[in-house]
Amino acid sequence: MKQNHIFYGGDYNPEQWPEEVWQEDMQLMKKAGVNFVSINIFSWSSIEKDEGKYDFSKLDKIMNLLAENQIGVDLATATASPPPWVARRYPETLPVSKEGEKYLPGSRQHYCPNSEDYKRLASKLVEKIAKRYAHHPALVMWHVNNEYGCHINECYCDNCRNQFRKWLKEKYKTIDVLNKAWSTDFWSQRYYDWEEINLPGKTPTYANPNQQVDYKRFMNDSILNLYKLEHDIIKKYSKDIPVTTNLMGLHKPINGFMWSKDMDIVSWDAYPDPYRKYPLDTFLAHDLTRSLKKKPFLLMEQAPSAVNWRAQNSVKKPNQMRLWSYEAIAHGADGVMFFQWRASQGGAEKFHSGMVPHSGDENSRTFKEIVQLGNELLKLTDIIGSNYASQVAILFDWENWWALELDSKPSDQVKYVEEILTYYEILYKLNIGVDFVSPNENLEKYKIIFAPASYQVSELFSRKVKEYVANGGLFVTNYFSGIVDQDERIYLSGYPGAYKDVLGIYIEEFAPMEKGKEHQIITNTGEIYANSIWEEKIHLKSARSLAYFNEGYLKGSPAITVNQYYQGTALYIGTKPQKEYLEQIIHYILKLRNVQTSLEVPEDVEITKRYDENNEFYFILNHSNDEKIIKLDDEYINLLTGKKVINQLILLGLDVAILKKI
Ligand code: GLA
Ligand code: ZN
Repeated sequence: MKQNHIFYGGDYNPEQWPEEVWQEDMQLMKKAGVNFVSINIFSWSSIEKDEGKYDFSKLDKIMNLLAENQIGVDLATATASPPPWVARRYPETLPVSKEGEKYLPGSRQHYCPNSEDYKRLASKLVEKIAKRYAHHPALVMWHVNNEYGCHINECYCDNCRNQFRKWLKEKYKTIDVLNKAWSTDFWSQRYYDWEEINLPGKTPTYANPNQQVDYKRFMNDSILNLYKLEHDIIKKYSKDIPVTTNLMGLHKPINGFMWSKDMDIVSWDAYPDPYRKYPLDTFLAHDLTRSLKKKPFLLMEQAPSAVNWRAQNSVKKPNQMRLWSYEAIAHGADGVMFFQWRASQGGAEKFHSGMVPHSGDENSRTFKEIVQLGNELLKLTDIIGSNYASQVAILFDWENWWALELDSKPSDQVKYVEEILTYYEILYKLNIGVDFVSPNENLEKYKIIFAPASYQVSELFSRKVKEYVANGGLFVTNYFSGIVDQDERIYLSGYPGAYKDVLGIYIEEFAPMEKGKEHQIITNTGEIYANSIWEEKIHLKSARSLAYFNEGYLKGSPAITVNQYYQGTALYIGTKPQKEYLEQIIHYILKLRNVQTSLEVPEDVEITKRYDENNEFYFILNHSNDEKIIKLDDEYINLLTGKKVINQLILLGLDVAILKKI
């Protein structure tokens, strides 16, 4: 696909409006620099009035109208919300909750991920759409379904139970292998027949841990199969048009690394809370989404201003939408799209902002900002396709997330995303570009790998880490990491079994702390800092200690250690240190591997770098309301103003510059 402009537009739902409005839409889209819209996401009930009774006349008109107006189409397959007649004819398509209640139609996503009827009806629809529009001049991209697993990512119906048994049979082949992998001799759970196995539904107390993890794997696979089903149908008719589905960033049920293999472009929907100055989970998710393919991504949806589904919904204040749009681009997006073009008059999301507000007023603040941004983005053709600069990576492993956050752990305070964010935030504030890597990837190209809360680790990954460090890499991990294998079975002979060789330590016992409690640790040089969440008894083998616990029975015992392993170094952080100290540790680590930011910038100013064979682009974002002065080392052109910038850049509050070296 050749992309001429940064994609700009949004979900466009003309079926909600009389046709007179469509002409006005075209005019306003032109004014706003809109070049791309997602259509047909929720149109199943208007296209197929009853089983097999299709009517594409409206969609034809919309496609033609957009083609005439040179607006590209991201064409959705319309399978995200089955029409009510589907539930009436095929009640078994409805998903079932853990409590055994059927979900009803009347909102959206009310389909069981394993329903054969849903699959058959959806396939027929996709087949029709793919065939009909594959060569339409407006078509630019395919948009499969919508936000898979957003509302329904578990189903406890009988069909899912049967499919789960089938899935297990394929995975384990014999019941004995399953028994071993599930440790079923614990609590008399040994199975003799596949038919005895259930979903981990309502149980008197904790359900078997690996059964729970397998269920999450199974559900992810089931939903992924729905995506693949549609993807493969589309590819039969439309080989060269890219296919995507809108992911949701830090979305636990959907294993993004797995999914991205069958996506030509990765896209996601970002809904940061505008009350916050630094919605770091969103910023992190830009990096995570880009990292799924290590290629530019598409911001498929964001709100033009307020959403309608938080308890209180903040508007995006003047320039906040613009700043956060550039935040996505600065982290690798080649498109900025919104939900939705025109704010709906009725329905559950009528109070969600639109690019065109209810007033329809072209002079409204939101629309004016939409127009400004759209016209600016037209100038940014140079950056399309450029890479994101990152020398360090954070391990991100969905399966570990599932396993770590199950019940019955030493502490419920070790939360995956929180642990990752703790490290990410420090790197972000230091303006160090970060990639995320899956355990299946090559680590060698990164100077440092951070692996916080890496609790479940395969033997394969454990070996990979050894090789990485032996060859000169720097590996950083922390408490409750390297503990179990993929079957939730503990690596024996001292924690953290999977990492203890590289770390040069072994841990005798965990001593998790009470929620909210703080203790002290003391560094080698005698400084004292607070620590929380976790403590443990660490024994040094080849490692040396950088800090010690300073209270209770662990007083004087190592808390943070560093080990030389062949050519490389491995650092272990056995507690959650006070932020200031963790910052120092990370500083020290970055220095060891000579990782630096591209330019020193004042506080609250962010800088990222994208590059291609010929160019370097610096994205400079002022997250504060105050004017900031950034000292420059070279001559640049600001792509947003077209002006040369020499020696220094002055950025107003919430303003952005994109500098290209000249
Ligand atoms: C999601 C959905 C959209 C819409 C928005 C509103 O991202 O994909 O259809 O519901 O949220 O916030
Ligand atoms: Zn089901």
